[in-house]
Amino acid sequence: MIHAFKSIDELACSLAEKVIGLVMASVQEGHRFNIALSGGSTPRVLFEKMASVTEIPGWLEQVNFFWVDERCVPPEHHESNYRMTDETLFKHFSFSYANVYRMMGEEEPRAEADRYEALLRSQLPVREGLPCFDLVLLGMGTDGHTASIFPDQMQLMHSGRLCEVARHPETGQQRITLTGPVINHADKVFFMITGENKASVLVSILGDGIDRENFPAAHIKPVHGELVWYVDKEAARFLQK
Ligand code: 6PG
Repeated sequence: MIHAFKSIDELACSLAEKVIGLVMASVQEGHRFNIALSGGSTPRVLFEKMASVTEIPGWLEQVNFFWVDERCVPPEHHESNYRMTDETLFKHFSFSYANVYRMMGEEEPRAEADRYEALLRSQLPVREGLPCFDLVLLGMGTDGHTASIFPDQMQLMHSGRLCEVARHPETGQQRITLTGPVINHADKVFFMITGENKASVLVSILGDGIDRENFPAAHIKPVHGELVWYVDKEAARFLQK
């Protein structure tokens, strides 16, 4: 399923409404909503929109916030995905942060990946042996990476662990990342992709390009869940109308 929007703003409004609607549906069913957030720049506008939704008081407390990946930097670092989320979303609400489970980028990476994996197993419902998120929000890099699974580390897409240590191929920066199996075990996986610099990779992935298997994002295929691509018209410029 692909939802294309005229602008990032329209996309963010629609996606914010969708996510909060899913949260409230969960609450109606009597359980908290378990979401894994990506970082980078694209989600900023989404989190800002979600922060502006004040007509549904208390929705934030109904969510358990996890991360898809985190840079191995302290939480106050300008590259921290947690810091970006805190600034654009959490800080707009007065809540206890008790339901915010950040990846600790300041810790030794392997130990933190192990800690986070144990946290997922203890906090999330486990089905078929794997923790199950209600929703995983993904972005995609211009190289087709998603989470922090880069084209030269494709083994992370099929890892036996839930969390691994990755390395950015250009900067060498270490990252903690969820791996393919736990992402593909989610009930819903939404990609949020904007900008013309993503258009050629996106059409390779969605248009069955011969090189699609080289892109980690092409390997996101939820086993039971729903996959939806939220894209703006720039990123979708090469897709068939
Ligand atoms: C990160 C993200 C990463 C991101 C892509 C796209 O930590 O950077 O989790 O997977 O989704 O790199 O980033 P942009 O949204 O900045 O293009």
